[in-house]
Amino acid sequence: MEVFFIVLSVLSVSSLSLSQECRRELLENVDFPGTDIKFVYSPDVQHCQYLCTQHPSCLFFTFLRADWTRDDRTFYCYLKSTASGRPKVEKGLLGVTSGYSLKPCGPDSQPCLSRMYQNVDFLGADYRTLFTADYEECQRVCTEDPYCQFFTFVNHVFTPERIRYKCHLKFSWPLPRTLNVNRKPGLVSGFSHSVQLSQPSDTACSSKLFPNTNFTGSSFETHPAGTPQYCLALCSAHPRCSYFSYQSDSLTCHLKNNPNELVMRAQEGVTSGIATHFCQQDTNWAKTALEGVDFQGSDIRFELLDGAESCQKACSMDQNCQFYTYVNEDFVDSAYWRRCYLKRFITMPAPPKVNKLANVVSGFTRRNCI
Ligand SMILES: *[C@@H]1O[C@H](CO)[C@@H](O)[C@H](O)[C@H]1NC(C)=O
Repeated sequence: MEVFFIVLSVLSVSSLSLSQECRRELLENVDFPGTDIKFVYSPDVQHCQYLCTQHPSCLFFTFLRADWTRDDRTFYCYLKSTASGRPKVEKGLLGVTSGYSLKPCGPDSQPCLSRMYQNVDFLGADYRTLFTADYEECQRVCTEDPYCQFFTFVNHVFTPERIRYKCHLKFSWPLPRTLNVNRKPGLVSGFSHSVQLSQPSDTACSSKLFPNTNFTGSSFETHPAGTPQYCLALCSAHPRCSYFSYQSDSLTCHLKNNPNELVMRAQEGVTSGIATHFCQQDTNWAKTALEGVDFQGSDIRFELLDGAESCQKACSMDQNCQFYTYVNEDFVDSAYWRRCYLKRFITMPAPPKVNKLANVVSGFTRRNCI
């Protein structure tokens, strides 16, 4: 049995090193057809490459550039993978650029995105608008506003006239998100201890949780969450979240928006709390291992390791890993025993849609450029 395990781990190490070559080159007018995981919008090929790098299973990509004219799929970033780690086919194709994930390169988890995109609209995800004299000021506001991830500015010749000089501040999740959280005996899940969470601040947040209390009212978003502390971190990161209620039996985090009133009601199994602002977030939620919990999906790969603690360390040491699930030897299916699944999700600014639009300028926060 021991021999069998040794052989297995040698195999997994060698299959790993095959795809672990750092390849930064971008192949202009080259297509990697097929083997798509999904497509996401992206304004340029560097951003698309970072998206592939931050997506758990993406190994290479093909991006349809602004000069793509065959159909209206401009700004499509196709995330791709194969078992071998290499594209099946490489083909010449005008208007596209292909390349590889930077996961093996020890990538920057918060890359500086300093480019401005003229005549490009980052559609949707607005949380606040204001008027600014030019796009530089709109970008400055976005950089100073802790919630802002990207923006679109409407310039001085746009029609209709009444929205000229309008600056749209936009949001995407900067926190590692666990998209599926389920109770499953024999599994242990947790976060990397070295994941970068928020900008540092001198003042610690005075966060308070209200056990067995529901802050009534409907939620604008619901997310899977392993703990009320993680739910608080989600609420504090979102520009529209006033407070939250966390349901422990279903492991769900209900984000609520009501800046006018807060009505409490006693309810067993529900923990509520208020968003924190301009302070150093408590990161204890990232330090707790959750027994009997599965962070399902979002796998980068797995390794065979001895114990959940080794798994947590492996995740913390791997720059690409944000969270993990470890399979103990009391899990129902012995085929999975000792597997340490390393996981992640996209945390960089990612516009939900990118379009050509005359007389607007878009760009990203410059927070990571300083
Ligand atoms: C809290 O109360 C609201 C009704 O105001 C209800 O819809 C909701 O399911 C309850 N629980 C949570 C976790 O929000």
